[in-house]
Amino acid sequence: MKKLFSSSVGQKLIMSLSGLFLITFILVHLLLNLLLLVGPEAYNKAVHFMATNPLMHLMEPVLAAGFIFHIIYATILTLQNQKARPEAYAVVDQSESSSWASRNMYVLGGLVFIFIALHLVNFFFKMKFGVGGDLPKVVYEGIKMDDAYPLVSGLFKVWWYAVIYVIGAVLLALHLRHSLWSALQTLGMNNSNLRPILENISILYAVIIGLGFSIIPIYFLIS
Ligand code: HEM
Repeated sequence: MKKLFSSSVGQKLIMSLSGLFLITFILVHLLLNLLLLVGPEAYNKAVHFMATNPLMHLMEPVLAAGFIFHIIYATILTLQNQKARPEAYAVVDQSESSSWASRNMYVLGGLVFIFIALHLVNFFFKMKFGVGGDLPKVVYEGIKMDDAYPLVSGLFKVWWYAVIYVIGAVLLALHLRHSLWSALQTLGMNNSNLRPILENISILYAVIIGLGFSIIPIYFLIS
């Protein structure tokens, strides 16, 4: 077990598994938030379901651990790579097949982290812990629940918040474009026939996430 955390193969495995877990979370999170485009009732009901479902309560610490492991091991592996390749600062050969995004996963991940921190302040702490006052309530089919819709839609009426969220979505897409393929490769799916298919699935996933998370702030900004 100790070896899993200290060997480089084990560390890469932890990065891949935590990455795949976060990739799944992000897709579910997008689907839930796209309900904002359907209307207040659909969105509030979905948020209420997530907030009251015991399985979701169980998943919250797992999600936090997924993020923490992912960030710690990203830092360890990046530092190790820099030590192993002191020429990292030398001029980069642009003819190399790796893209800018793949060479800068740590930088992109760091920027996404800053975005997530702001995002948690915007929504999570307010909805979860009532920071800044309790949310207004609504009743649907006799069930009383938080009216989360105006908090989220109202934020994106502020143009610069909408811009920050679109930039966050683009950064996340660039980070994810490489992540899915990289995680699957570490888990052994690296045969040459599979490679182009998996690379295309990674790109498709990244585009869906980038566009999906951008559409929400843009919709509220212009509506
Ligand atoms: C338009 C874009 C987005 C909207 C409207 C949105 C909305 C929300 C809301 C309302 C919450 C609080 C939910 C609650 O506490 O019940 C939340 C939490 C969270 N969001 Fe987002 N989100 C967006 C984009 C993102 C992106 C791009 C990420 C990056 C991975 C992300 C990661 C998280 C995390 C980690 C949490 C805390 C865990 C949770 O409550 O599920 N969100 N988001």
